[in-house]
Amino acid sequence: MDAILTYVFIFLFTLLSFVIFMKRDKRGGQVPQKRAQLPPGSLGWPYIGETLQLYSQNPNTFFSSKQKRYGEIFKTHILGCPSVMLASPEAAKFVLVTRAHLFKPTYPKSKERLIGPSALFFHQGDYHMRMRKLVQGSLSLDIIRNLVPHIEGLAVSATDSWATGQVIDTFHQMKKLSFEVGILAIFGNLEAHYKEELKKNYTIVDKGYNSFPTNIPGTPYKKALLARKRLRVILGDIICERKEKRLLEKDLLCCMLNSTDEKGEVLADDQIADNILGVLFAAQDTTASVMTWIVKYLHDDPKLLEAVKAEQKIIREANEEGQQPLSWAQTRNMPVSHKVIFESLRMATIISFAFREAVVDVEYKGYLIPKGWKVMPLFRNIHHNPEYFADPHKFDLSRFEVAPKPNTFMPFGSGVHACPGNELAKLEMLVMMHHLVTKLKWEVVGSQSEIQYSPFPVPLHGLPAKFWKQSA
Ligand SMILES: *[C@@H]1O[C@H](CO)[C@@H](O)[C@H](O)[C@H]1NC(C)=O
Ligand SMILES: *[C@@H]1O[C@H](CO)[C@@H](O)[C@H](O)[C@H]1NC(C)=O
Repeated sequence: MDAILTYVFIFLFTLLSFVIFMKRDKRGGQVPQKRAQLPPGSLGWPYIGETLQLYSQNPNTFFSSKQKRYGEIFKTHILGCPSVMLASPEAAKFVLVTRAHLFKPTYPKSKERLIGPSALFFHQGDYHMRMRKLVQGSLSLDIIRNLVPHIEGLAVSATDSWATGQVIDTFHQMKKLSFEVGILAIFGNLEAHYKEELKKNYTIVDKGYNSFPTNIPGTPYKKALLARKRLRVILGDIICERKEKRLLEKDLLCCMLNSTDEKGEVLADDQIADNILGVLFAAQDTTASVMTWIVKYLHDDPKLLEAVKAEQKIIREANEEGQQPLSWAQTRNMPVSHKVIFESLRMATIISFAFREAVVDVEYKGYLIPKGWKVMPLFRNIHHNPEYFADPHKFDLSRFEVAPKPNTFMPFGSGVHACPGNELAKLEMLVMMHHLVTKLKWEVVGSQSEIQYSPFPVPLHGLPAKFWKQSA
């Protein structure tokens, strides 16, 4: 049945791409002749074709088969846009770092509407730098070291709540945890009723985020837009209250309220609200996916689990079996667990690629990247290239005993748009792991090898698993 459907799809798309190709050829003459040529590759199956492939199958297969066929730079056509994909560390550096100003970040308008157009990652230039400094500052090591006891509190109640012996959706639980940590970093201590309202309405936005954008009432997207409006009202109330209190906290909200540009202008409430939602969005699914993979990798490899347990049990004993809180210094001295995080980030590469658009015609290694084309450095290919990571499909901590070669390991991206929350994310993962391996044992339920893309790769059904308290 599936095979038949696939054939029908392929037939339809081939027909479609043929028609579009004919059109293209006629327009071909209008494109000015350039010295540089377009990269190799196929623009076939435009619009839906390659998008469907990209999002429905394993992106490993999609990208690596293309790279095998065409080399490290090739053209394709996804999400309705002609695109150039780049699979080498040098090319990633070119796009993200050295020539970053020639490539702007791009997101579909429908997603921008849900998060808010002023969110940092939709921007380039001065405004972007200003917001980035604020976010980076409020998530810097000096600030987040003070969050350890609070993150630990959240990790303790999360892990305790899993230990029922009932099957739970690991990814879903991890999402709850990373949402709480996001709220903590943004607001510090937020009143419970605000937190509840934010959580409920944000969940609706989250559900609509990957659904078909339409204004038809009752659809997930429309519901998400309405919830987004309510979120703006709640955030307005919180912002207003904060302004009156003039608290001298160091959380992101206070940093944003306190920020002035060179003309002395403060940020508008809309800008603040958009960036709060932007940070929550950027922090939740990404961190939760990685933590879900960590649970799976530890489960699949008893020796690995033993090594992490050994490391964390020593810390737990030093803390009188959890009577004393984890200290910042302890979280900085978990070498095995740190490597587990790095290797999980590499193996799972939950951000398969960066998405940019060329703002002018750009030439790279003799190839033309035309203005307006999408440009995608392929992190996944780089992280799984045996030239940089021998035996790439093997989970192997020893590869992180030395630093990876420059630009071969970019789990948080690179350059001015790299993730400013990387240290917070790693801290959250370490604290979660500490409680997971010292207090719980777990069993994964059902199929263990399939992956779903939502759109980040996570084990199928969010890794259903049963958790119990370890007997003393
Ligand atoms: C959403 O926010 C509003 C406040 O604007 C609140 O009354 C409501 O309970 C929240 N939750 C849902 C599911 O709408
Ligand atoms: C807010 O700004 C004032 C003056 O620019 C500064 O003294 C103060 O430390 C800032 N507060 C925070 C929380 O950053």
